[in-house]
Amino acid sequence: MGKLILHDIHKSYGKEKVLHGINIETGENQFLVLIGPSGCGKTTLLNIIAGLEQQSQGEILLNDRPLTHLSPKDRDIAMVFQSYALYPSMTVRNNILFGLENRGVPRAERQQILAEVTRMLQIESVLDRRPRQLSGGQQQRVAIGRAIARRPSLFLFDEPLSNLDAKLRVEMRSEIRRLHKQLQTSMVYVTHDQIEAMTMGDLIAVMNGGIIQQLGSPEEIYNNPANRFVAGFMGSPSMNFVPVTVRSGADGLALQVHGKEGGEVILPIPRRIQAALRPQEGRAITLGIRPEQISDPDSAREGEALHTLDLPVDLIEPTGPDTLVFTHLLGHPLVARVHPSTQLSVNGNCSLSLHLERAVFFDADTGKRLA
Ligand SMILES: Nc1ncnc2c1ncn2[C@@H]1O[C@H](COP(=O)(O)OP(=O)(O)OP(=O)(O)O)[C@@H](O)[C@H]1O
Ligand SMILES: [Mg+2]
Repeated sequence: MGKLILHDIHKSYGKEKVLHGINIETGENQFLVLIGPSGCGKTTLLNIIAGLEQQSQGEILLNDRPLTHLSPKDRDIAMVFQSYALYPSMTVRNNILFGLENRGVPRAERQQILAEVTRMLQIESVLDRRPRQLSGGQQQRVAIGRAIARRPSLFLFDEPLSNLDAKLRVEMRSEIRRLHKQLQTSMVYVTHDQIEAMTMGDLIAVMNGGIIQQLGSPEEIYNNPANRFVAGFMGSPSMNFVPVTVRSGADGLALQVHGKEGGEVILPIPRRIQAALRPQEGRAITLGIRPEQISDPDSAREGEALHTLDLPVDLIEPTGPDTLVFTHLLGHPLVARVHPSTQLSVNGNCSLSLHLERAVFFDADTGKRLA
């Protein structure tokens, strides 16, 4: 068990519509990540699932049980907030035990749950401290421990790691994933951070403006974005976007790039997508290509066609495992990802290969994926 269904959830605050028909169905015990920019409605959706807010329309089912008319405490859901929300005057032990006592769990069972949670989260040494005597990471562990102690059918996390430093975040990410495997319970996890979404999610819902832009596995979302918003939001540095016009040439269709100050470059269109772009002939569309698909000329995989260009180097950013090159194609900015040993100099030129086989194409007006 452990299946969540959100069916056509709408939410308005007065006249302001915040959610416009959210539909999500998770598999058994999946880890669902909600990601999107600030204000897109993530917390609102989480609060509606928890019962802290009422939806204006729509139905929620948890393990085939409708939740809509149940109060928060009857929903069998535990929520972990960004701000931890621990009771400041209680020890860690009592923070974890409090909810259990309230619900009349017998003493022996409470002690057993406490021991189990303490061991899972490695917080034995801090059980007698109060929250203010803990580091941010420890406080977050206790907040998660308190949620686990309730043994809910569903966990909701609202940006639980955003107050932690970078190293601790990475550790806690894998810890939460490990807990998910161990507990075999559905989790819904809200984040701004696309690396967190990619590394943690079984299923990712990318939201914008109160709408789910795409629901899919991390791989689908990254490699097969439904529209320009998703393509640009997921991935760091962001996907490159270049305005192009579809022209017919000697070898079928080709892409014409117009220079910002005159000039043009013609790029071939891979055979695989010639047919899909045929209806766009003569139209201006958007080419999308990720930084890692603009790379050293020798980076091609077998059978992959490359289109190599000599491009100016505007800026170089070594990241360690690879180096980012900021360049432009006739004034249209591009970021490329090259091997750290590549010889580069700012204001010099550099040979870069576009893996056009991996490029994606969007309608210039609507942002919808064309191919
Ligand atoms: N109680 C409320 N009354 C009126 N408007 C609200 C209320 N709560 C949220 N909103 C509005 O609903 C929209 C969505 O807010 P929400 O908190 O769900 O966004 P979010 O995606 O969680 O953003 P963030 O990433 O910044 O936490 C925002 O425009 C916000 O101003
Ligand atoms: Mg929020």
